[in-house]
Amino acid sequence: MSEPDRDRIVRTVASTQSEMTEIILPNDTNTLGNLLGGRLMHFIDLTGAMAAYRHSRTHVVTAAMDHIDFIRPVRLGDLLTLKSSVNRAFTSSMEVGVKVWAENTRTGGVVHVASAYLVFVAVDEHGRLQTVPELLPETPDEIRRHADALRRREHRERERLRQSREREATAAHDASQVRN
Ligand SMILES: CC(C)(COP(=O)(O)OP(=O)(O)OC[C@H]1O[C@@H](n2cnc3c(N)ncnc32)[C@H](O)[C@@H]1OP(=O)(O)O)[C@@H](O)C(=O)NCCC(=O)NCCS
Repeated sequence: MSEPDRDRIVRTVASTQSEMTEIILPNDTNTLGNLLGGRLMHFIDLTGAMAAYRHSRTHVVTAAMDHIDFIRPVRLGDLLTLKSSVNRAFTSSMEVGVKVWAENTRTGGVVHVASAYLVFVAVDEHGRLQTVPELLPETPDEIRRHADALRRREHRERERLRQSREREATAAHDASQVRN
């Protein structure tokens, strides 16, 4: 699809909604029988990418995973359900929200165990940035998440700038140490 055509497309949040369910097996757990944090982040990344693919309809890479809350442990044998949707689309990037629940298979009880925000960037097969379609928030919750995503982007941009300055200062310091 050519760039001008992509620019005219508007997609709804509902069209990006994605879901994944996993059963937690021994390989996914630590010595206490709880789901490993890194494994949970992997599931979150995959479910987030599904929403980003549905919005961009191109390749996506994870640029950032921020604000992840591990609220409760997930136990061996639980059913994990992850739901994602795009909160806001920018130029080539999209913020995706992922929410995770665990179901105890014996009691049927379902609890919210984690939430995360991720940024995915759309690229072509050569890794070149791609413009993503506009996202149309429709419900009051979607409109609120759309506004919040802009605030989080501004925060991320400030943090990116701060870290880049810090890296430059460290590199300059290291270079001066080598010379002395
Ligand atoms: C993400 C990546 C493509 C950005 O490329 P870049 O040349 O730095 O691009 P830019 O600085 O021009 O930013 C491009 C977009 O990415 C966003 N972005 C880049 N780094 C980001 C970060 N750390 N957090 C959030 N957004 C980020 C920018 O805000 C911009 O969004 P916009 O086009 O909607 O305004 C590049 O850093 C990359 O390839 N990173 C590795 C990704 C990866 O391997 N992920 C894990 C496996 S999928």
